[in-house]
Amino acid sequence: MKYIIGNWKAHKDIFQAVEWAEEFKKLVEGSSELLALLNNNVLKIIICPPFPFIYLLKQFVMKIPNIEIGSQDISQFDEGSYTGEVTASGLRHIISHSIIGHSERRKEVDETEEVILRKVQQLSQYSLQCILCIRNENDLNYQAASFVAYEPINSIGSGHNMNVEDVINMKQRLKLWPEQKFIYGGSVNHQDCQEYFQTEEIDGLLIGKASLDPQELVSIALQTKH
Ligand code: PGA
Repeated sequence: MKYIIGNWKAHKDIFQAVEWAEEFKKLVEGSSELLALLNNNVLKIIICPPFPFIYLLKQFVMKIPNIEIGSQDISQFDEGSYTGEVTASGLRHIISHSIIGHSERRKEVDETEEVILRKVQQLSQYSLQCILCIRNENDLNYQAASFVAYEPINSIGSGHNMNVEDVINMKQRLKLWPEQKFIYGGSVNHQDCQEYFQTEEIDGLLIGKASLDPQELVSIALQTKH
């Protein structure tokens, strides 16, 4: 099974989210090839929009197998008096996965390893799957994370995706737990995704900018057939 995780980051308003969802659903349901990949467990797509659009997107895709919704973050706190927080407990029946420790959060909101660990534990407590982003071998890995997404900071949003050999070299330096899936993220689009899908060493891709366009995301998804 290959995994494609779409990270919208802080893009789109409600109208643009609806437009995306309508077009994405139409493209998926109109492609027997893509439906076969999803139905046959060759591919799982996890879309991670901003919090306000999670339930909306869920309603669009809930009847399609192997298309799931994730969040881009989760509260470090359990349910309770934490104004403004969005908890694993609150989202557990809507999402299946959550991205934790993205380098943009480590940098822009000073997310520390202590906070990241608490978030990983929250997900685990509510049986949600953690997609743990790491920048290099110095970031900590946690056994409770189902996915480790290697995202070199120079590749994110730069247009310069890292070549497959270097990604695999990093995988060997990381101490992955036996069951963990290994994902690459950083400037992947429909023109350069195929080489990542061709190796057994990489279980999938975390896609930022290219996931904002449903056509582009579907075009990437279709290449998992190779
Ligand atoms: P990008 O973002 O595909 O736009 O480089 C990837 C990410 O930050 O998850």
